Amino acid sequence: MTSSLFSPFSIKKIQFKNRMGVAPMTRMSGAGDSIPRKDVLEFLVTRARNGAGLVYTEAIVTDYESAQGYPGQARILNQVQVDTWKGITDRIRKHGAVSICQVFHCGRMAYEGINPANRTIAPSPVAPSQDNPMTGKPYPVPEEMSRFDMDHVINGFVETAKGAMAAGFDGLEIHCAHGYLLNQFLSSYSNKRRDEYGGAMENRFRFIREVIDAVRPVVPDDRLLVVRISNWGIADMEVSLFENREEWLEMVRLFSQTPIDAISVSTYDYSEKAFGTDQTMAAITREATDLPLMICGKIYDRKSADQALDHADLVLSGKSMLLNPDWVTDLEASRELKVYSSEEAGIAYTETPLP
Ligand SMILES: Cc1cc2nc3c(=O)[nH]c(=O)nc-3n(C[C@H](O)[C@H](O)[C@H](O)COP(=O)(O)O)c2cc1C
Repeated sequence: MTSSLFSPFSIKKIQFKNRMGVAPMTRMSGAGDSIPRKDVLEFLVTRARNGAGLVYTEAIVTDYESAQGYPGQARILNQVQVDTWKGITDRIRKHGAVSICQVFHCGRMAYEGINPANRTIAPSPVAPSQDNPMTGKPYPVPEEMSRFDMDHVINGFVETAKGAMAAGFDGLEIHCAHGYLLNQFLSSYSNKRRDEYGGAMENRFRFIREVIDAVRPVVPDDRLLVVRISNWGIADMEVSLFENREEWLEMVRLFSQTPIDAISVSTYDYSEKAFGTDQTMAAITREATDLPLMICGKIYDRKSADQALDHADLVLSGKSMLLNPDWVTDLEASRELKVYSSEEAGIAYTETPLP
């Protein structure tokens, strides 16, 4: 049987040989040079060689001031970093896969000392409720972003986009999910601003639009600009970051009016029904946009991957791509496969070689 999982797909001029991608995964392996460990970079090439149609980088930090949330994160802001990544994108392309660089500002999800300039900034001076698992301490109360801060952050996205394009990536993804800075603007859970960047969804969206409008001219029309969105955040995971289906749809419509090329929807479980409806997150999102969609979350075997494609164009896998180098051929053979746990994925943060 040939399902659309193994059929090609294209977004503008970018062609995907199949519908399976490696989800963005932070590995915290970089040293002072903000370059990931060699084997961590090799992992991306290996997955391309083994059949993935799309390979995402880990979340790349957009500046040296306030963007970093975890130790050992990577940047693409200087020539050495660009050259390193160029070697990787060339090899991913040789294996016939598309490469997309995810770019990220952590916002309030930082901790003291993690950023060279040691600042924590966010739309509003509100910290997540839970403690930071990295430190066992509360997250610091962030400084409310000023206009100057906003311009600096936008500049970081633009400079990083320039680096990513120079490094040969086929696309750039702006991380608007998981409770990080741009998601903090979008959600009334973290955005309490009273100026034109807070309040109604249209206002909460304003800063994201500014980022997209600044970045798009740097990402040529023959490369992709993608956003990743989610209704959940890494901290205070149980909180629904959007109040209801309508609010989510309004956000998706606003994204659709910007010059992006695709939307990536991140869930815990692609099959879970969302916002008290009988629809999945991907099905709901489809209603509000004609843009190509990617879906991720507990897609682990042929059946789940086929099903996930009912309401999306590409499926991404995190843990299965991380822990099973043969995931794509296993799907092709419809092998029986397991769901990997987050504990098993913890190997991502050690020096133990991946399988
Ligand atoms: C080790 C690890 C690191 C991750 N880092 C990122 C990241 O940098 N950016 C991001 O958007 N998602 C990140 N995620 C989330 C994954 O992209 C994915 O959404 C999640 O693992 C659910 O998919 P799965 O059920 O296929 O694992 C990470 C996940 C894991 C396991």
